[in-house]
Amino acid sequence: MESRNMTEQEFAEFQKLLERELGASGKPGDEDEIAEMLRHEPSANLMQPPASTVQELRRRQEERQKKEREAAEKAAEEKAAADTAAAAAYAAANTHGKYEKIKPASQMPEFEPAPSTRGKYEKAPEDYSEESAPKADSLLKKTGKYEKVTEEAEGYFNPELPKESAAERRRRAKKNARITRIIIGLAAVFVISLGVGIIVNTLNAKKDTSPEKQEVMASQQATDTEGNDAAIAETNEIPDDKECSILGIAPMKSFISLLENDTCSLQVSMTTNGEATASDLLWESSDPAIAEISDTGVVRGISAGKCTLSISAKDDPSICAQVECVVRKTEEKDGVTYIDGILVLNKSYGAPENFGPDGLTPETQAAFDELCAAAAEDGLNIYLSSGYRSYYTQYDLYNGYVYSYGQDVADTFSARPGHSEHQSGLAIDVNTVDDSFGATPEAAWLAEHCDEFGFIIRYAEDKVDITGYKYEPWHIRYVGKETAADITRLGIALEEYLGIDSVYTENETE
Ligand code: DAL
Ligand code: ZN
Repeated sequence: MESRNMTEQEFAEFQKLLERELGASGKPGDEDEIAEMLRHEPSANLMQPPASTVQELRRRQEERQKKEREAAEKAAEEKAAADTAAAAAYAAANTHGKYEKIKPASQMPEFEPAPSTRGKYEKAPEDYSEESAPKADSLLKKTGKYEKVTEEAEGYFNPELPKESAAERRRRAKKNARITRIIIGLAAVFVISLGVGIIVNTLNAKKDTSPEKQEVMASQQATDTEGNDAAIAETNEIPDDKECSILGIAPMKSFISLLENDTCSLQVSMTTNGEATASDLLWESSDPAIAEISDTGVVRGISAGKCTLSISAKDDPSICAQVECVVRKTEEKDGVTYIDGILVLNKSYGAPENFGPDGLTPETQAAFDELCAAAAEDGLNIYLSSGYRSYYTQYDLYNGYVYSYGQDVADTFSARPGHSEHQSGLAIDVNTVDDSFGATPEAAWLAEHCDEFGFIIRYAEDKVDITGYKYEPWHIRYVGKETAADITRLGIALEEYLGIDSVYTENETE
């Protein structure tokens, strides 16, 4: 074998080779191993690297590379085996749609994604929404066979996945803190309001039960005699040590009527801050020559006329109320009573057998004709069913009802002979004389317009206790236009208007 010293150029290349080999392997000990190898070479000290040394280095390099390749191949085989096992387990579990997190593509089996169930719900699941469903669907389509899961899809299916930067975390923490402060603030306001409300309510409750706010009702009652019993004040008031003061006065009626030499009581309700009686009020008449009023509210008719009655608080005249008062004159003619010229026939006032005009009075007939004509213009048919009835006709009628229903019942809808307005020629029953008439357009028209022709609905629905008869929407009574207008305006019965009652004074059956 030929031996010679390396040239300078060869030596430089040998050094480079060593450096490359040592650097490539990167294993500690290689450097020492090469130095040792050179030491034992006969030409090493001569700075002549033998060809065997280079060959040995190459051999070792190749052996190292081979080992690395084999290790990599083995690792790849193991990984492939693991993937296959995971895919088999996934397919067996059939857990599509239940993943909280979509698995990496390498772990996914090859299969078609399950079709979207959107639009197939009979009942939408609790977490379904029109916003979320289409998005999920589109994301599933986008990921296709899950070869690649987009960031968007991962973020959607697993909200925990998106990475949050430190700045975002701080922003979110700040936002949460702000929301928490607002909630605490609102809760505090609510609690404070609740507390204030309870305090105010408590104070109000105390105030309401205090004498200053106590509302009481007081009414004065008097006999129809001399008024000696005076007014009796009734009160719900809880007695109070303080002096009473009246806060308000409200008469039970704005209009009263009474006959000359007759009496009635004027009833009022009072709002007070303590126990109050009629004697705490000042009762005054604008004209004592027409009507007097006692200090207990008993009114006495002196002579026919009109006056005003005033009721005021003694300790505060500004607390007051007025009542319109009419004193009526009574006259008798041909055995029949007229009050202020108005003929009266009711349970209290009767007529003799021979009284009667033998038909409707001319005024009554004329007024009724006008009424019927006006109703006809409005397309309604109002006609006379029963007008004048003699004493004897009423006798037969009434006794027939007594025979059929008994006297008590008959007295609720039929007048005893001598007490029927029909005997006066001033009353008319129209159309169908039974309760069904009340529901007809004619009945409504009659109630609304009859006063324009001088008639009133004589036995009103809400005045049964005063007239003594049941509601008769078909029975009209002629009183003249002025009186009819007054009665209609006041909404009262003829008895109230005249200041009389309607009660049989004896058990007469004839
Ligand atoms: N139906 C009335 C009251 C009368 O009989 O006169
Ligand atoms: Zn009648």
